[in-house]
Amino acid sequence: MRVLAYPLALAPSVVALLALYGAGALAVGPMLLAMAGIAAVTVVLVNRYLHALSVAEQATAAAQQATEVERRRASLDAVAESAQSIVDGLPDPLIAVDRQRRIVRANRAARQLLGAAGPERDLSTTLRHPQLLAAIDGLLQAPDAAAEAPGGAVVELALPGPPELDMVAHLQRLPRAAADGSLALVVLHDTTALRRAERMRADFVANASHELKTPIAGLAGFIETLRGPARDDAAARDRFLAIMAEQAERMRRLVDDLLMLSRIEQHEHARPEGAVDLVPVLKSVLDLLQLKARDREVALQLRLAPGLPRALGDADELTIVFQNLVDNAIKYTRPGTAVKIAAGPAGEGRVAVAVADEGEGIAAAHLPRLTERFYRVDAARSRQLGGTGLGLAIVKHVVNRHRGRLDIQSSPGRGSTFTVLLPVA
Ligand SMILES: Nc1ncnc2c1ncn2[C@@H]1O[C@H](COP(=O)(O)OP(=O)(O)OP(=O)(O)O)[C@@H](O)[C@H]1O
Ligand SMILES: [Mg+2]
Repeated sequence: MRVLAYPLALAPSVVALLALYGAGALAVGPMLLAMAGIAAVTVVLVNRYLHALSVAEQATAAAQQATEVERRRASLDAVAESAQSIVDGLPDPLIAVDRQRRIVRANRAARQLLGAAGPERDLSTTLRHPQLLAAIDGLLQAPDAAAEAPGGAVVELALPGPPELDMVAHLQRLPRAAADGSLALVVLHDTTALRRAERMRADFVANASHELKTPIAGLAGFIETLRGPARDDAAARDRFLAIMAEQAERMRRLVDDLLMLSRIEQHEHARPEGAVDLVPVLKSVLDLLQLKARDREVALQLRLAPGLPRALGDADELTIVFQNLVDNAIKYTRPGTAVKIAAGPAGEGRVAVAVADEGEGIAAAHLPRLTERFYRVDAARSRQLGGTGLGLAIVKHVVNRHRGRLDIQSSPGRGSTFTVLLPVA
């Protein structure tokens, strides 16, 4: 194309000179001279024009290339950013380290848990656990050939608090170093709640077994005595049988309470949906416990607010709740005093039932643990009064199932008030 520029530029001058020559206006010599002159000037001019043209073309091409590079870099940035946001979205802390065990990347959960896990710093500045560091060193030092089937390790560790956290660290070596240098990943998983649940279950089994062991040992002892030394002692036999019946009754109560607790727990997630009139529920509880109260010279006083709203719940389970609270109040109040049961609306769509006694009260230190299974302020006294220590645990689970609340107010020496708040039906 460019070669055509020369004849094209020369053509008009050549035609003009030939015309002048044809018309006899120009002799051969001057015509050839003029032609040579014009050709020389044209070649110089065309050359310059063509050079300028190619510079402009190159500049355009370079600009296009730069735009393309910019576009690719932006899309790579976008990929890196979305990779980081995916990693940040993981609920578990994740740290990536390079071959030298330096932190390359940490997700948001890791930054929150371990503070600023500054990149380029050794993992040991963030996780000072010797066993974990040894395990990660082992993975990083494995030859690359072994990386076809990259290895992993699991390390259990406790992060110092407060609060102290139980963690399981899953370590994973990558098949080969990633673009950012990452060669191994550390993912931490919080097992604190799991551990606590395990401990609670173990404690519960130990406590329940212990509670059953005492009456069983008692029964076995009396059976031995009745078979041996007291075989022919009618008076002793009657006395022992009475104690044995009491122990058996105690075991029955314990097993009943355990079964009830497990039944309530099993459906604790399913909220009851009945509309319960609390008036007959409370009256039936008072009827049931009137005798026991009279035995202890305790007066039961029921005060119902007019137009008491119905509660959203299960009448049988609520009966158990108030039975336990009134039973406790009768047991722990001073003889000759009154136990006051008051029910009324509590605002925010709730109805409240408060059971108040005038007993010794409960020291503040015990309050948070009172609803734990088998927790008793004075175990010997509770046992002597026939308690299993499961009453308030049952109350708490029923109230939880009802999406209600249990409030305990107590002033030592003056008495306690247990208030149950339930949603209005
Ligand atoms: N009204 C109260 N006044 C003082 N202490 C109380 C009162 N209610 C409960 N407690 C304390 O809380 C502990 C736990 O109560 P909970 O009802 O769970 O067990 P319990 O009454 O001993 O036995 P159970 O209810 O299984 O027969 C009691 O042992 C007692 O120490
Ligand atoms: Mg009780």
